[in-house]
Amino acid sequence: MKTHRTDRESFVKSCCAALYEGKGAAMLLGESLHPGGLALTERLGQLLNLGPRTCILDVASGNGASAVYLAKRFGCAVTAVDYSGKNVTLGTNKAAAAGLRGQACFVLADGEQLPVQDSSFDAVICECAYCTFPDKAAAVAEFARVLRPGGYLGVTDVTTSGRPLPDTLEALLAWIACLAGAQRVEEYERQFTEGGFQMSAMEDHSDSLKALVRELRTKLLGLDLLAKLGNVAGLAEALAESKQLGKYAADAVESGLLGYHLFIGEKPLGRS
Ligand SMILES: C[S@@+](CC[C@H](N)C(=O)[O-])C[C@H]1O[C@@H](n2cnc3c(N)ncnc32)[C@H](O)[C@@H]1O
Repeated sequence: MKTHRTDRESFVKSCCAALYEGKGAAMLLGESLHPGGLALTERLGQLLNLGPRTCILDVASGNGASAVYLAKRFGCAVTAVDYSGKNVTLGTNKAAAAGLRGQACFVLADGEQLPVQDSSFDAVICECAYCTFPDKAAAVAEFARVLRPGGYLGVTDVTTSGRPLPDTLEALLAWIACLAGAQRVEEYERQFTEGGFQMSAMEDHSDSLKALVRELRTKLLGLDLLAKLGNVAGLAEALAESKQLGKYAADAVESGLLGYHLFIGEKPLGRS
């Protein structure tokens, strides 16, 4: 387990946590903070064969929407960790409101240093967050460590095509610091394989990203109209920048420069 963190690594994690714990993220993205929403979480649950006897770990669980959904839908026991204390509280409250206090628990932790025992989970999921981890090898090693032999890893994440990104898009990715680590499909597969996983499935869900970006742009246009009608000082300018970035993002997903993929890997039975 890694014990040393650089200032830059901590900054990226805190920045991402702050971005996704606020009301703004919930307003723009909805409860589920990833492309495809709970429908894609359902797909992940099906592919991982979740059921009432399964113990799963949701790494970088956000506000707990997926963890609570999976606990309710499949009857599995869920431990969820996130770098944001606010998100851990949101998740805990969500589980309590759903009557799942004993079945879905939320812990403040770093995905690269999981505070759980070796081989203690049947499945590990990580939705739309692995790309944000500065030390991906450390994260994959942790996923493998906490899974029992024969257990499954399910990851969904933002992907790049491998073609060079226009400068405008580089600026967008820098702005959303925590997406800067999006990679090619082959690179994700290489990292999971090097971490000891046998890859068993890969699916293209880029249409979900297209739909999310379209929805985001519509919401930003609505906000822009409200700002103009209400003549709110400063807001219209801030929104103009967001709308421009939204257009770059839309161009990138429509042209296939950015996508969204699902990966399933198995920790081989012989591995401790
Ligand atoms: C895009 S949101 C995804 C949340 C959730 N998985 C979902 O799909 O709804 C990214 C989440 O990753 C969390 N995060 C970022 N870096 C992390 C880290 N190193 N360890 C744990 N959580 C992290 C953030 O706090 C944020 O909640």
